[in-house]
Amino acid sequence: MVITALREDSGRLRGFGKVTRDLTERHEAEQRRNAEREADAARLREHADRMAELERTKTQFLNLASHELRGPLTVIRGYSSMLEDGTIPPDQVPPVARLLEAKLAQMDLLIEQMLETARLEHDSLELYREKFDLRWVAQEQVDVFRPLAQGHHVMIDAAHQPLLVEGDRSRVGTIVANFMDNALKYSPHGGEICCTTGRRGTNVFVSVRDQGIGIAPEHMPRLFTRFGRLPTEQNLSIAGTGLGLFLCKEIAVRHGGDITVSSRPGAGSEFTLTLPAIR
Ligand SMILES: Nc1ncnc2c1ncn2[C@@H]1O[C@H](COP(=O)(O)OP(=O)(O)O)[C@@H](O)[C@H]1O
Ligand SMILES: [Mg+2]
Repeated sequence: MVITALREDSGRLRGFGKVTRDLTERHEAEQRRNAEREADAARLREHADRMAELERTKTQFLNLASHELRGPLTVIRGYSSMLEDGTIPPDQVPPVARLLEAKLAQMDLLIEQMLETARLEHDSLELYREKFDLRWVAQEQVDVFRPLAQGHHVMIDAAHQPLLVEGDRSRVGTIVANFMDNALKYSPHGGEICCTTGRRGTNVFVSVRDQGIGIAPEHMPRLFTRFGRLPTEQNLSIAGTGLGLFLCKEIAVRHGGDITVSSRPGAGSEFTLTLPAIR
């Protein structure tokens, strides 16, 4: 509030003038505007950061796609030209065809992982539900990946009773495919790989156990993160995107299930998918 003396020309005091300005209100309005401006700027910065992150992810994706898909492609091209020029004896054609199929399944898995990650990013991953027996899904994937075994002894220990679940059959298949793919990749010196299916209480499960390089306890938290390849010496020479387990976990949880792991470095690992059973 400002009070001013009002005088006549002669200088005689005529009275007082009072100008009341609510400075507090003005100050508050200014503060509000500043806060809004700051919030806008923060939102813009956040948006820019997110765009930059997306751009990085996109580049990472493109690099991964070209690098990872080239591996199986090279093998397929090699074998197909051998088939063409007759280098492969007729009795070896069926096993070579199975190997080609397994390499194609590996490429398929990679493409699927990239598409699924993009679907998650856009919130458009929808499950298709149907009733199926988990034992057959496990069997199919083991059969597809078996030809990739190099000095591995691949076994299946299937439950005797049906293991009915309601869920996305093809996506559950992708989980088992990733378990198998990992077991083969991360046990470079061979050994046993055993796929077990069974029932535990109200749940059914499928697990894949290997005798490979194993996982150190301090690396466990990283396993299920996006692009979460473990920072180990061996990983440098093994192809991978680090998307597989991240997606497996997400899909398992969306089915009301889970993925667990037990492992000992140098001794091997066991990954288990658990799903609610249909009674
Ligand atoms: N069976 C396994 N044995 C040892 N390490 C494993 C196994 N499965 C997964 N891992 C580790 O977990 C990481 C994440 O697995 P995943 O998401 O399937 O990625 P990717 O197979 O593309 O490398 C792998 O890079 C690897 O370091
Ligand atoms: Mg994998």
